[in-house]
Formats: sequence, structure tokens, C-alpha cells
Amino acid sequence: MAIAIVLILIVIASVLFHILAPWQATPAASNWGSIDTTLFITLIISGIFFIAITVFMAVAVMRYRHKEGSRAAYQPENKKLEVWLIIVTSVGIAGMLAPGLVVYNDFIRVPKNAYELEVVAQQWQWAFRFPGQDGKLGRSDIKFIAPANPLGLDPKDPVGQDDVLVLNNEVRLPLNRPVKVLLRSKDVLHDFYVPQIRSKMDMVPGMVSYFWFTPTKTGKYETLCAEYCGVGHYNMRGHMIVEEQGAFDQWLNSQPTFAQTLTTAAKPSRDSMLEKGRLLVEKYGCGACHSQDGNNSLGPGWKGLYGRTEQLADGTSVLVDEAYLKESILDPKARLVQGYPPIMVAYTLNDDELGALVALIKSLGAARQDNEPSASDASGPGDDLATQGQRLAGSLGCLACHSVDGSKGVGPSWQGVYGKTETLADGTSIKVDEGYIKDSILNPSAKIVKGYAPVMPAFAPSDQELNALIAFIKSKANTDADASKAEPGK
Ligand code: CUA
Repeated sequence: MAIAIVLILIVIASVLFHILAPWQATPAASNWGSIDTTLFITLIISGIFFIAITVFMAVAVMRYRHKEGSRAAYQPENKKLEVWLIIVTSVGIAGMLAPGLVVYNDFIRVPKNAYELEVVAQQWQWAFRFPGQDGKLGRSDIKFIAPANPLGLDPKDPVGQDDVLVLNNEVRLPLNRPVKVLLRSKDVLHDFYVPQIRSKMDMVPGMVSYFWFTPTKTGKYETLCAEYCGVGHYNMRGHMIVEEQGAFDQWLNSQPTFAQTLTTAAKPSRDSMLEKGRLLVEKYGCGACHSQDGNNSLGPGWKGLYGRTEQLADGTSVLVDEAYLKESILDPKARLVQGYPPIMVAYTLNDDELGALVALIKSLGAARQDNEPSASDASGPGDDLATQGQRLAGSLGCLACHSVDGSKGVGPSWQGVYGKTETLADGTSIKVDEGYIKDSILNPSAKIVKGYAPVMPAFAPSDQELNALIAFIKSKANTDADASKAEPGK
């Protein structure tokens, strides 16, 4: 009895919930009322079955409940009942599927006056392309994909030269004009989904899928990927802004054409280094895993990263300098920071792009680098000796044992060590000067500082490298006089 009442209450509550729920008034932002109608038909049909089955259960529970002395009767076949059940079920299923065929047919039968928008997906970001003045999209092929040509357009196709590229996650559309959306994926399955527009379609690598719609209401709609495509899937989101034709035209004109992106890529200007870095971040979707606000997600955040010493997965540590950043982009798994999964894919960037990305990360880097005015990609011979030494210390692995922030490691910290008087293991003491540092690098076990294990291997750097290392250690001295530029040699 109680169970039957509960079942009936569930039915009544479900129906009331559907009628009274405030959420069903979502305004459709396009002409796709038919999709909502299809969903509604499905809901009504499955709702009728839900009510019928639940009421039947309640009746059966009441009518055939256990009574003293009664026995269940065996009834193996009931042909009439089976026929009826098959007919009713078939009609119900056909009623749910048939409208979908009609609606889907509409969904892909593009009106003649529709303009085209191409959406290109990759792990884990979006890019868009509009035809230029000629109204036609140029040819594309994966074989053309290159750092300067992320969408893989045919550089020789004249039709593609004026195509307008939108290399970020936000696209705009003009109001009340039918648009044919062409979908392409560069790597794995994705799915372009704009919930309020009621449009959604898989993007399959190797083919171009499409649908069309007409936005009928201005506004900002969220677009998202609706197909699990890897660890960054959740972050594959963007916006679609529907606006009046005039505003849209203005925006479209401010976006670069394919020809323009090719020329900018061909001659990079030093001033635009950071801007280029930011574009690359957009283009490659670095932001899906690396934040710029200091938070760590799937990869280390970039804020304050440059110049920091990171613990690696193998227990050693590394100074995050240009060389390390470049290596980590080209071969991410080579030296992985501890605590992060080895999921980053290798990127093949050219030197210019590497420089731009490193410059951007540098610009977000530690305050320690502030005394160096060059925020650009200065590297190599132009650096002062101390900077070279810093890089060397990172690449030789010195910083695994010697901190530069005063904290005690396997070996003495370099912070403030220069000029200090240390007590040695044999009880004598020594002033840390150039000579002692040199000795300690070339023959570490000769004069060990008290309290440290004799574990450092001997290094045989060149004179130039030795001087650079000393200059770097000197630059970490506490006395201001010594903190300035180190003089080369003695
Ligand atoms: Cu792309 Cu999920």
C-alpha cells in the first residue's frame, strides 16, 4: 500500500515539476524552435510511458499483493498482450525518431544566401575564419599547417588571401543573417556546441561537417566543446557575440587577413615580441594548462616562474632560464617539474616563436630579473657574465644542491656566501673568495665546509665558464659593493 502511494506521488510530483519549473522559458536565440519542438515531443512520449508504467506498477502492487492462502498462477504466454505491447512501443519510438529526421534535414539544408564561417578546433582551443571580400573561403589542407599558418590554408590559393582569421576563442556574428558553419578539427574529435542557439555538431579530423542557423537575438553566448578531447577539454570554451551588422563589420575589418598574418610572421618586429608571445599562447592553447596569474593547474603557472629554481621529478632542480624554457617547449618530458603529470605534447616552434614565448614568460617572471632592462629575448654573448653564470649553474645542475635564496641544501647556499668566512670540516676557517670558489668547483672535496657531506662531483668547466659561475655567485653576495657587475677574470 505504502509503495503504491509513493509511486503515484512520484508521478504527480514529476508532472507538477515539469509544469511549474521556471527553467523551460529559455528564449531560443535563433530559428531553431523546431529542435525544441522535437525535444518536447520526445519528452511527452517518454512522459506518457513513464506515467503508464509507474501507474501499472502501483496497480499491480495493490492488486496482486500477498494474501493469506492465495497462490500465484503460472501464465507463460499472452499473444494478444505481446502484440499490443509491440505496436504501442513501436509507435512511441517512431514518434520520437521521425521528427528528428525532419529537423536534421533542415539543420543541414543551407539556404542559398547564407555566408560561411569556418570553425577550427584543436586541443584545446578554437579558431575561426570568415571569407574575405570575395565571399569565398580559400582551400585548406593539413599539409600547410605551420607555425605561421595555424589553420593550414593554401598560401598559393588566391581565394584564401583575403580570408579573415580569428585566432582566439571569441567569434562574432551579424544579427539575422543565415550562417553556414563549417567545422574542422586539427587533431582529435571535438564538438562545437552553442546551447542557446540549439546547435551542436561533432568535428571529425579529416572531414568537414557543417550546419546552419540564423541568430535572431543579439547577445553573448557561450560556446563550448561537447566531446571529451583530453585533459584540457573542460577549458575549451569561448564566446559567440551576436551583434548588429554595422558593429560586426567594424569588428571584422579589425581582424587580420590570411595574407597579413603571413607577412607579420615573415618579419617579426622586436617591439611586438610580447604581443607575438600572447598570440602564440592563444594559438597553441598554452593557457589551457599554464595560467598567467600564478595559479598552478595542469602545468606550472607562468607568473614568477622565470628565474625561479624548480624541483624536477627526478629529484634534481633547475633554474628556469631561457634554455630550460626552450627545452621544455620543444621536449616537454625531458626535465619535468615535480608534481606535474607528463602530459604536455612537444611543440615545434621556430627560433622567433620560441623567443617570443620565452620573452612573454620572462615578462611575467620573478622580480629578481628586474635590474636587467632588456625584457626582450636577449640571450647568448650579449648577456653579462653573471647572467651567463646563472644559466650555466642551471644547466650544470649546481642549483640542485646550492640554493640562491639562502635556504640550506645539500651544499651551502650561494645567497650571501661570497665574502663570508666559513668554518671547514677540519676546524680551520677560510674566507670565501674567487680562489676558494674556483678550488671548490675544480676539486670539491679538498676544503669542505663544516656540516656538509663530501658529495659534490668535480667539474671541469672552461675558464670562461668558471668566471661566469663565480660572477653569478658574487652577484648573490650580501655586500652591495660586490653585487654590481662582476669584472671578468681576476
Ligand atoms: Cu575539444 Cu573537448
